Amino acid sequence: MGKSTLERKFSHPCFFLDLRGLPFTKVSLQSHSTDGIMAIISSKKQPQEPGEKPKKQRGVAKKTQKTENVLSPQAGDGERGKPEESIRPHRFADYIGQKDLKDVLEIAIKAAKSRQEVLDHLLLYGPPGLGKTTMAMILASEMDVNYKISSAPALERPRDIMGLLVNLKPGDILFIDEIHRLSRMTEEILYPAMEDYRLDITTGKGPSARMRSIPLAKFTLVGATTRVGALTSPLRDRFGLVQKLRFYEVDELGKIILRTAQLLKTPLSEHGATEIARRSRGTPRIANRLLKRVRDYAEVKASGEINQDVAAEALQLFQVDPCGLDWTDRKMLGAIIEQFNGGPVGLETIAAATGEDTQTIEEVYEPYLMQIGYLTRTPRGRIATTAAYQHLGFKPPNEQMSLL
Ligand SMILES: Nc1ncnc2c1ncn2[C@@H]1O[C@H](COP(=O)(O)OP(=O)(O)OP(=O)(O)O)[C@@H](O)[C@H]1O
Ligand SMILES: [Mg+2]
Repeated sequence: MGKSTLERKFSHPCFFLDLRGLPFTKVSLQSHSTDGIMAIISSKKQPQEPGEKPKKQRGVAKKTQKTENVLSPQAGDGERGKPEESIRPHRFADYIGQKDLKDVLEIAIKAAKSRQEVLDHLLLYGPPGLGKTTMAMILASEMDVNYKISSAPALERPRDIMGLLVNLKPGDILFIDEIHRLSRMTEEILYPAMEDYRLDITTGKGPSARMRSIPLAKFTLVGATTRVGALTSPLRDRFGLVQKLRFYEVDELGKIILRTAQLLKTPLSEHGATEIARRSRGTPRIANRLLKRVRDYAEVKASGEINQDVAAEALQLFQVDPCGLDWTDRKMLGAIIEQFNGGPVGLETIAAATGEDTQTIEEVYEPYLMQIGYLTRTPRGRIATTAAYQHLGFKPPNEQMSLL
């Protein structure tokens, strides 16, 4: 019999593992809301001087202190700035996986270069930690242009975006993270800027109001979002390229982990890399984080070298399920199976049963559970699959029926 679509799409070795009885305790998850994430305005041209105090930025959200979860796809406090940059790939050749995305972008880059034009505006969407920001930076280095990075919450007032736009040089890449959170006014300023490289400014009020247009340098807007559905259609329609990032396969994550280990000068065997990759929820950010935790363990408890056994021991100690499921995933699936006979169950009910908010469940938990085939979404609600029953050590419903 041929492989099912799911098997072909995601050859995850974790199916059908019986993990009943494994100790899993709740670790609080970083909220998916980006209130803990800074509103960045940075640029390749403006590195901070060593020793210089970090400048206060307007619109910088207050950081909230939360316990960090090793399986959270969002960047933790120690994963921004320098530590992240040291392992981030800077060229296409180092960007592992996402073949479809790379193919499309390589063609777009070659075409733009040969016509000596700027790259089309690009919208990247997909779950957190899959490489959207990384890809925007790679585009800039492949196009040999400068980039500026900002985030929608930092562009609340019209003058914030105006300031960024007028300072762009020909060909520059303007990266706006969380682009679905742009304010209405900022969005309206972006429309003519994206379409005609023009900034429309209204001066005066009422009948004496005047419109002035300022020409802008031709630039490329790269927008990133985890919620493409939340984008307004006029904004979405102005992107020439709209590309989705997908979860990574285990072998791709293995390569990412081996590359990071090389950069960190950590001895790591291929089997050790695969062991970490299997538990990384298809996400490079989690893979790199788990590698760092395993490296600590290997240095303290073993010879410093990471092989499969050391990786498995360390990850069990950190309570990382062999499939990368965490407490909330297991609670969610367990609730659907035990309290609702496997579903269908509505999102709100799942949220109430797990104590997570509906948005976090939709954006962070469900995509991975659906990807590995543990959960399906129907118009009537969520359903736990046979694989989920088996993973959690429950008898699947069809087997229960046959026992009657
Ligand atoms: N294809 C890849 N190859 C190698 N490493 C990768 C790849 N994609 C991502 N990474 C690593 O994962 C980390 C997270 O990636 P990145 O910051 O680009 O994610 P993101 O999609 O922008 O996440 P968010 O939605 O939270 O902003 C990076 O530091 C990088 O080292
Ligand atoms: Mg990002």
